[in-house]
Amino acid sequence: MDEKNEVPQDTAESSSAASQASIKEQLEEFISQMNADNVVIPEAAKAQLLEIASQVDNSVPGVDSMSGLNEIRNKVLSKAGSLSGFMKNLRTASQELKPALGKLANFLRERADFSFKAIEALLKDKELQKKLEAEKLDVTMPGISAPWGAYHPNTLVINDLVAIFSGMGFEVFEGPEIENDYYNFTALNTPADHPARDMQDTFYISDELLLRTQTSAGQIRVMENKKPPIKILSPGKVYRSDDDATHSPMFSQMEGLVVDKGITLCDLKGMLDEFARKMFGPEVKTRLRPSYFPFTEPSVEVDVSCFACGGKGCRLCKGTGWIEVLGAGMVNRHVLEGCGIGDEYTGFAFGMGIERIAMLKYGINNMKLLFEGDTRFSKQFKG
Ligand code: PHE
Repeated sequence: MDEKNEVPQDTAESSSAASQASIKEQLEEFISQMNADNVVIPEAAKAQLLEIASQVDNSVPGVDSMSGLNEIRNKVLSKAGSLSGFMKNLRTASQELKPALGKLANFLRERADFSFKAIEALLKDKELQKKLEAEKLDVTMPGISAPWGAYHPNTLVINDLVAIFSGMGFEVFEGPEIENDYYNFTALNTPADHPARDMQDTFYISDELLLRTQTSAGQIRVMENKKPPIKILSPGKVYRSDDDATHSPMFSQMEGLVVDKGITLCDLKGMLDEFARKMFGPEVKTRLRPSYFPFTEPSVEVDVSCFACGGKGCRLCKGTGWIEVLGAGMVNRHVLEGCGIGDEYTGFAFGMGIERIAMLKYGINNMKLLFEGDTRFSKQFKG
Protein backbone atom coordinates (compact mmCIF):
# COMPACT_ATOMS: atom_id res chain seq x y z
CA MET A 1 0.00 0.00 0.00
CA ASP A 2 1.35 3.37 -0.93
CA GLU A 3 1.56 5.39 2.35
CA LYS A 4 0.81 8.65 0.56
CA ASN A 5 -2.50 7.60 -0.90
CA GLU A 6 -3.59 5.77 2.17
CA VAL A 7 -5.47 8.65 3.80
CA PRO A 8 -7.08 11.33 1.62
CA GLN A 9 -5.28 14.61 2.43
CA ASP A 10 -6.83 18.02 3.00
CA THR A 11 -5.27 19.68 0.04
CA ALA A 12 -7.22 22.49 -1.54
CA GLU A 13 -8.51 20.11 -4.18
CA SER A 14 -9.37 17.20 -1.97
CA SER A 15 -11.00 19.39 0.67
CA SER A 16 -13.31 20.97 -1.87
CA ALA A 17 -14.12 17.49 -3.10
CA ALA A 18 -14.47 16.42 0.53
CA SER A 19 -16.90 19.20 1.25
CA GLN A 20 -19.11 17.85 -1.52
CA ALA A 21 -18.94 14.17 -0.53
CA SER A 22 -20.33 13.41 2.93
CA ILE A 23 -18.01 12.04 5.59
CA LYS A 24 -19.97 8.80 5.44
CA GLU A 25 -19.36 8.52 1.67
CA GLN A 26 -15.65 9.29 2.12
CA LEU A 27 -15.43 6.69 4.85
CA GLU A 28 -17.18 4.08 2.67
CA GLU A 29 -14.75 4.92 -0.10
CA PHE A 30 -11.81 4.46 2.27
CA ILE A 31 -13.20 1.13 3.50
CA SER A 32 -13.68 -0.19 -0.04
CA GLN A 33 -10.09 0.85 -0.83
CA MET A 34 -9.00 -1.25 2.14
CA ASN A 35 -11.17 -4.11 0.91
CA ALA A 36 -9.45 -3.86 -2.43
CA ASP A 37 -6.19 -4.22 -0.55
CA ASN A 38 -7.64 -7.29 1.12
CA VAL A 39 -8.24 -5.68 4.50
CA VAL A 40 -11.76 -6.66 5.48
CA ILE A 41 -13.37 -4.52 8.12
CA PRO A 42 -15.84 -6.41 10.27
CA GLU A 43 -19.47 -5.38 9.73
CA ALA A 44 -20.02 -4.31 13.36
CA ALA A 45 -17.01 -1.96 13.33
CA LYS A 46 -17.97 -0.65 9.89
CA ALA A 47 -21.54 0.01 11.04
CA GLN A 48 -20.31 1.80 14.17
CA LEU A 49 -17.94 4.05 12.17
CA LEU A 50 -20.54 4.84 9.51
CA GLU A 51 -23.03 5.63 12.25
CA ILE A 52 -20.63 8.19 13.74
CA ALA A 53 -19.97 9.62 10.26
CA SER A 54 -23.73 10.00 9.70
CA GLN A 55 -24.07 11.61 13.11
CA VAL A 56 -21.63 14.34 12.01
CA ASP A 57 -23.06 14.58 8.47
CA ASN A 58 -26.60 14.98 9.74
CA SER A 59 -26.04 17.41 12.56
CA VAL A 60 -23.44 19.84 11.15
CA PRO A 61 -25.65 21.52 8.50
CA GLY A 62 -28.28 22.40 11.11
CA VAL A 63 -25.84 23.94 13.58
CA ASP A 64 -26.56 27.66 13.97
CA SER A 65 -24.89 28.54 17.23
CA MET A 66 -21.62 27.93 19.05
CA SER A 67 -23.48 26.06 21.79
CA GLY A 68 -25.09 23.81 19.18
CA LEU A 69 -21.68 23.18 17.64
CA ASN A 70 -20.09 22.37 21.01
CA GLU A 71 -22.91 19.93 21.73
CA ILE A 72 -22.34 17.87 18.58
CA ARG A 73 -18.55 18.18 18.89
CA ASN A 74 -18.76 16.74 22.41
CA LYS A 75 -21.06 13.95 21.27
CA VAL A 76 -18.42 12.79 18.79
CA LEU A 77 -14.98 13.90 19.95
CA SER A 78 -15.06 14.26 23.76
CA LYS A 79 -13.69 11.55 26.05
CA ALA A 80 -17.22 10.23 26.52
CA GLY A 81 -18.00 10.76 22.82
CA SER A 82 -18.93 8.16 20.22
CA LEU A 83 -15.53 8.14 18.51
CA SER A 84 -13.66 7.76 21.81
CA GLY A 85 -16.01 4.85 22.59
CA PHE A 86 -14.97 3.21 19.31
CA MET A 87 -11.25 3.80 20.08
CA LYS A 88 -11.62 2.15 23.50
CA ASN A 89 -13.04 -0.95 21.84
CA LEU A 90 -9.97 -1.10 19.55
CA ARG A 91 -8.10 -2.79 22.38
CA THR A 92 -10.17 -5.91 21.86
CA ALA A 93 -9.61 -6.04 18.06
CA SER A 94 -7.19 -8.48 16.44
CA GLN A 95 -3.57 -7.41 15.82
CA GLU A 96 -4.13 -7.48 12.04
CA LEU A 97 -7.20 -5.31 12.17
CA LYS A 98 -6.01 -2.77 14.77
CA PRO A 99 -3.97 -0.57 12.35
CA ALA A 100 -6.77 -0.47 9.75
CA LEU A 101 -9.44 0.34 12.32
CA GLY A 102 -7.12 2.92 13.86
CA LYS A 103 -6.61 4.56 10.46
CA LEU A 104 -10.36 4.64 9.84
CA ALA A 105 -11.02 6.12 13.27
CA ASN A 106 -8.30 8.80 12.74
CA PHE A 107 -9.66 9.54 9.29
CA LEU A 108 -13.11 9.98 10.77
CA ARG A 109 -11.74 12.21 13.56
CA GLU A 110 -9.92 14.40 11.04
CA ARG A 111 -12.95 14.73 8.76
CA ALA A 112 -15.27 15.48 11.67
CA ASP A 113 -12.81 17.99 13.09
CA PHE A 114 -12.52 19.61 9.68
CA SER A 115 -16.31 19.96 9.45
CA PHE A 116 -16.56 21.38 12.97
CA LYS A 117 -13.81 23.91 12.27
CA ALA A 118 -15.45 24.93 9.02
CA ILE A 119 -18.79 25.46 10.70
CA GLU A 120 -17.10 27.31 13.57
CA ALA A 121 -15.44 29.71 11.14
CA LEU A 122 -18.80 30.26 9.46
CA LEU A 123 -20.54 30.95 12.77
CA LYS A 124 -17.82 33.39 13.85
CA ASP A 125 -18.11 35.18 10.56
CA LYS A 126 -21.89 35.42 10.94
CA GLU A 127 -21.48 36.74 14.46
CA LEU A 128 -19.03 39.39 13.24
CA GLN A 129 -21.40 40.38 10.43
CA LYS A 130 -24.19 40.73 12.97
CA LYS A 131 -22.01 42.85 15.22
CA LEU A 132 -20.92 45.04 12.32
CA GLU A 133 -24.52 45.37 11.21
CA ALA A 134 -25.55 46.48 14.70
CA GLU A 135 -22.72 48.98 14.88
CA LYS A 136 -23.29 50.33 11.39
CA LEU A 137 -23.27 54.13 11.25
CA ASP A 138 -25.59 55.92 8.93
CA VAL A 139 -23.65 59.06 8.21
CA THR A 140 -26.59 60.55 6.35
CA MET A 141 -28.77 60.47 9.47
CA PRO A 142 -29.41 63.91 10.94
CA GLY A 143 -27.55 64.41 14.22
CA ILE A 144 -29.13 65.18 17.56
CA SER A 145 -28.53 68.87 17.88
CA ALA A 146 -28.44 70.69 21.17
CA PRO A 147 -30.80 73.66 21.23
CA TRP A 148 -28.95 76.77 20.20
CA GLY A 149 -29.06 79.77 22.43
CA ALA A 150 -29.55 83.23 21.02
CA TYR A 151 -28.17 86.61 21.94
CA HIS A 152 -30.57 89.00 23.62
CA PRO A 153 -31.48 91.87 21.28
CA ASN A 154 -29.73 94.28 23.68
CA THR A 155 -26.54 92.24 23.43
CA LEU A 156 -26.83 92.21 19.65
CA VAL A 157 -27.14 96.00 19.59
CA ILE A 158 -24.27 96.49 22.05
CA ASN A 159 -22.08 94.12 20.02
CA ASP A 160 -22.93 96.01 16.82
CA LEU A 161 -22.22 99.37 18.45
CA VAL A 162 -18.93 98.22 19.92
CA ALA A 163 -17.91 96.79 16.53
CA ILE A 164 -18.84 100.02 14.71
CA PHE A 165 -17.20 102.39 17.17
CA SER A 166 -14.13 100.30 17.90
CA GLY A 167 -13.62 100.37 14.12
CA MET A 168 -13.39 104.17 14.51
CA GLY A 169 -10.82 103.87 17.30
CA PHE A 170 -13.05 103.97 20.40
CA GLU A 171 -12.11 102.06 23.57
CA VAL A 172 -14.72 100.58 25.91
CA PHE A 173 -14.96 101.86 29.48
CA GLU A 174 -17.49 100.50 31.97
CA GLY A 175 -18.37 102.66 34.98
CA PRO A 176 -20.17 101.63 38.20
CA GLU A 177 -23.97 101.29 38.34
CA ILE A 178 -24.06 102.73 41.86
CA GLU A 179 -22.76 106.26 41.45
CA ASN A 180 -22.38 109.22 43.71
CA ASP A 181 -24.25 112.42 43.20
CA TYR A 182 -21.11 114.21 42.03
CA TYR A 183 -20.40 112.00 38.99
CA ASN A 184 -24.03 111.50 38.02
CA PHE A 185 -25.07 115.16 38.31
CA THR A 186 -22.81 117.83 39.82
CA ALA A 187 -19.73 117.22 37.66
CA LEU A 188 -22.04 117.04 34.64
CA ASN A 189 -22.98 120.68 35.23
CA THR A 190 -26.17 119.72 37.05
CA PRO A 191 -25.79 121.06 40.63
CA ALA A 192 -28.22 120.13 43.42
CA ASP A 193 -30.67 122.96 42.67
CA HIS A 194 -30.56 122.54 38.88
CA PRO A 195 -34.00 122.04 37.34
CA ALA A 196 -32.57 119.49 34.86
CA ARG A 197 -32.32 117.00 37.74
CA ASP A 198 -36.11 116.73 37.51
CA MET A 199 -35.73 115.27 33.99
CA GLN A 200 -34.35 112.12 35.58
CA ASP A 201 -36.40 110.87 38.54
CA THR A 202 -33.78 109.05 40.45
CA PHE A 203 -33.41 106.06 42.78
CA TYR A 204 -31.36 107.34 45.70
CA ILE A 205 -29.65 104.85 48.00
CA SER A 206 -28.52 107.58 50.41
CA ASP A 207 -28.13 111.37 50.12
CA GLU A 208 -24.85 110.75 48.32
CA LEU A 209 -25.35 107.46 46.50
CA LEU A 210 -27.79 106.64 43.74
CA LEU A 211 -28.38 104.19 40.91
CA ARG A 212 -26.86 106.08 37.98
CA THR A 213 -29.46 107.70 35.73
CA GLN A 214 -27.12 108.01 32.75
CA THR A 215 -23.86 106.51 31.48
CA SER A 216 -22.67 110.13 31.12
CA ALA A 217 -21.34 109.70 34.67
CA GLY A 218 -18.60 107.61 33.07
CA GLN A 219 -17.45 110.63 31.04
CA ILE A 220 -16.27 112.34 34.22
CA ARG A 221 -14.52 109.20 35.52
CA VAL A 222 -12.63 108.92 32.23
CA MET A 223 -11.72 112.61 31.93
CA GLU A 224 -10.46 112.70 35.53
CA ASN A 225 -8.14 109.79 34.86
CA LYS A 226 -7.04 110.19 31.29
CA LYS A 227 -5.42 113.00 29.37
CA PRO A 228 -6.77 113.79 25.88
CA PRO A 229 -6.90 112.52 23.24
CA ILE A 230 -9.87 110.59 24.64
CA LYS A 231 -12.13 108.37 22.57
CA ILE A 232 -14.28 106.11 24.69
CA LEU A 233 -17.49 104.15 24.48
CA SER A 234 -19.32 103.30 27.68
CA PRO A 235 -22.18 100.80 27.64
CA GLY A 236 -24.17 99.90 30.73
CA LYS A 237 -27.39 99.78 32.72
CA VAL A 238 -29.02 102.94 34.02
CA TYR A 239 -32.02 103.48 36.32
CA ARG A 240 -34.88 105.97 36.34
CA SER A 241 -38.27 106.08 37.99
CA ASP A 242 -40.07 105.59 34.67
CA ASP A 243 -42.45 102.84 33.60
CA ASP A 244 -44.56 102.52 30.44
CA ALA A 245 -44.49 100.72 27.07
CA THR A 246 -41.35 102.57 25.97
CA HIS A 247 -39.76 103.26 29.37
CA SER A 248 -38.52 100.93 32.09
CA PRO A 249 -37.03 101.61 35.56
CA MET A 250 -33.91 99.81 34.32
CA PHE A 251 -32.58 100.20 30.82
CA SER A 252 -29.27 100.39 29.00
CA GLN A 253 -27.34 103.20 27.42
CA MET A 254 -24.28 103.58 25.24
CA GLU A 255 -22.24 106.67 25.88
CA GLY A 256 -19.55 108.03 23.61
CA LEU A 257 -16.97 110.71 24.37
CA VAL A 258 -14.29 112.28 22.21
CA VAL A 259 -11.93 114.96 23.51
CA ASP A 260 -8.99 116.29 21.53
CA LYS A 261 -7.60 119.46 19.99
CA GLY A 262 -9.81 120.97 17.30
CA ILE A 263 -12.87 118.71 17.75
CA THR A 264 -16.00 120.39 16.34
CA LEU A 265 -19.68 119.63 15.81
CA CYS A 266 -18.72 118.65 12.25
CA ASP A 267 -16.70 115.75 13.63
CA LEU A 268 -19.75 114.65 15.62
CA LYS A 269 -21.98 114.88 12.55
CA GLY A 270 -19.51 112.96 10.36
CA MET A 271 -19.09 110.22 12.94
CA LEU A 272 -22.87 109.93 13.44
CA ASP A 273 -23.40 109.65 9.68
CA GLU A 274 -20.98 106.75 9.60
CA PHE A 275 -22.65 105.13 12.62
CA ALA A 276 -26.14 105.50 11.10
CA ARG A 277 -25.09 103.96 7.79
CA LYS A 278 -23.44 101.00 9.47
CA MET A 279 -26.24 100.45 12.00
CA PHE A 280 -29.36 101.08 9.92
CA GLY A 281 -28.31 100.83 6.27
CA PRO A 282 -26.14 102.61 3.66
CA GLU A 283 -28.91 105.04 2.56
CA VAL A 284 -29.63 106.37 6.05
CA LYS A 285 -28.91 110.05 6.78
CA THR A 286 -28.73 111.96 10.05
CA ARG A 287 -30.28 115.24 11.16
CA LEU A 288 -29.36 117.36 14.17
CA ARG A 289 -32.03 119.31 16.06
CA PRO A 290 -31.26 121.85 18.80
CA SER A 291 -31.80 120.45 22.27
CA TYR A 292 -30.67 120.89 25.83
CA PHE A 293 -28.43 118.90 28.15
CA PRO A 294 -26.65 120.62 31.05
CA PHE A 295 -23.30 119.04 30.21
CA THR A 296 -23.21 119.79 26.46
CA GLU A 297 -23.31 123.15 24.69
CA PRO A 298 -24.61 123.28 22.04
CA SER A 299 -26.77 120.21 22.54
CA VAL A 300 -28.59 118.28 19.84
CA GLU A 301 -31.10 115.51 19.34
CA VAL A 302 -30.02 113.25 16.53
CA ASP A 303 -32.55 111.78 14.12
CA VAL A 304 -31.90 109.20 11.42
CA SER A 305 -33.91 109.11 8.20
CA CYS A 306 -36.50 106.33 8.49
CA PHE A 307 -34.88 103.06 7.39
CA ALA A 308 -38.30 101.40 7.03
CA CYS A 309 -39.78 103.81 4.46
CA GLY A 310 -36.67 105.62 3.24
CA GLY A 311 -37.97 108.93 4.61
CA LYS A 312 -41.39 108.98 2.89
CA GLY A 313 -43.28 108.58 6.15
CA CYS A 314 -44.66 105.37 7.68
CA ARG A 315 -45.91 103.90 10.94
CA LEU A 316 -42.40 103.45 12.35
CA CYS A 317 -41.45 107.12 11.87
CA LYS A 318 -45.03 108.25 12.63
CA GLY A 319 -45.26 109.82 9.20
CA THR A 320 -42.33 112.20 9.75
CA GLY A 321 -39.65 110.35 7.77
CA TRP A 322 -37.26 110.73 10.74
CA ILE A 323 -36.58 108.69 13.86
CA GLU A 324 -34.96 110.11 16.98
CA VAL A 325 -32.10 107.91 18.12
CA LEU A 326 -29.83 109.78 20.50
CA GLY A 327 -28.81 112.90 22.39
CA ALA A 328 -25.46 114.55 21.84
CA GLY A 329 -23.52 117.80 21.91
CA MET A 330 -20.19 119.54 22.41
CA VAL A 331 -18.89 118.89 25.93
CA ASN A 332 -19.70 121.95 28.04
CA ARG A 333 -16.63 124.03 28.91
CA HIS A 334 -17.60 123.85 32.61
CA VAL A 335 -17.43 120.07 32.50
CA LEU A 336 -14.01 120.03 30.80
CA GLU A 337 -12.70 122.59 33.31
CA GLY A 338 -14.06 120.60 36.24
CA CYS A 339 -12.00 117.64 35.03
CA GLY A 340 -8.87 119.77 34.62
CA ILE A 341 -8.90 119.73 30.84
CA GLY A 342 -7.44 122.94 29.35
CA ASP A 343 -8.84 125.41 26.81
CA GLU A 344 -6.85 123.92 23.95
CA TYR A 345 -9.18 120.91 24.00
CA THR A 346 -12.75 120.53 22.87
CA GLY A 347 -14.92 117.46 22.70
CA PHE A 348 -18.26 115.94 21.90
CA ALA A 349 -20.39 113.38 23.66
CA PHE A 350 -23.38 111.31 22.69
CA GLY A 351 -25.68 108.91 24.49
CA MET A 352 -28.27 106.50 23.18
CA GLY A 353 -30.75 104.05 24.63
CA ILE A 354 -29.88 100.47 23.70
CA GLU A 355 -33.45 99.19 24.08
CA ARG A 356 -34.72 101.98 21.88
CA ILE A 357 -32.29 101.02 19.13
CA ALA A 358 -33.16 97.31 19.56
CA MET A 359 -36.90 98.10 19.38
CA LEU A 360 -36.42 100.15 16.22
CA LYS A 361 -34.09 97.70 14.56
CA TYR A 362 -36.09 94.54 15.33
CA GLY A 363 -39.62 96.01 15.27
CA ILE A 364 -40.32 95.34 18.97
CA ASN A 365 -43.35 97.32 20.16
CA ASN A 366 -43.14 96.86 23.91
CA MET A 367 -39.99 97.40 25.94
CA LYS A 368 -41.17 94.93 28.61
CA LEU A 369 -40.60 92.04 26.18
CA LEU A 370 -36.89 92.76 26.47
CA PHE A 371 -36.88 92.14 30.22
CA GLU A 372 -39.29 89.24 30.69
CA GLY A 373 -36.76 86.55 29.80
CA ASP A 374 -39.28 84.60 27.70
CA THR A 375 -37.16 82.39 25.45
CA ARG A 376 -39.94 82.22 22.82
CA PHE A 377 -39.19 85.90 22.35
CA SER A 378 -35.43 85.95 22.67
CA LYS A 379 -34.72 82.93 20.47
CA GLN A 380 -36.16 84.82 17.48
CA PHE A 381 -33.05 86.99 17.37
CA LYS A 382 -30.09 85.31 15.75
CA GLY A 383 -28.02 88.40 15.11
N1 PHE B 1 -27.10 111.38 29.16
C1 PHE B 1 -28.10 111.88 28.26
C2 PHE B 1 -29.45 111.24 28.60
O1 PHE B 1 -29.43 110.26 29.30
C3 PHE B 1 -27.76 111.63 26.80
C4 PHE B 1 -26.57 112.40 26.36
C5 PHE B 1 -25.31 111.83 26.45
C6 PHE B 1 -26.70 113.65 25.82
C7 PHE B 1 -24.20 112.53 26.01
C8 PHE B 1 -25.60 114.35 25.40
C9 PHE B 1 -24.37 113.78 25.48
O2 PHE B 1 -30.47 111.70 28.17
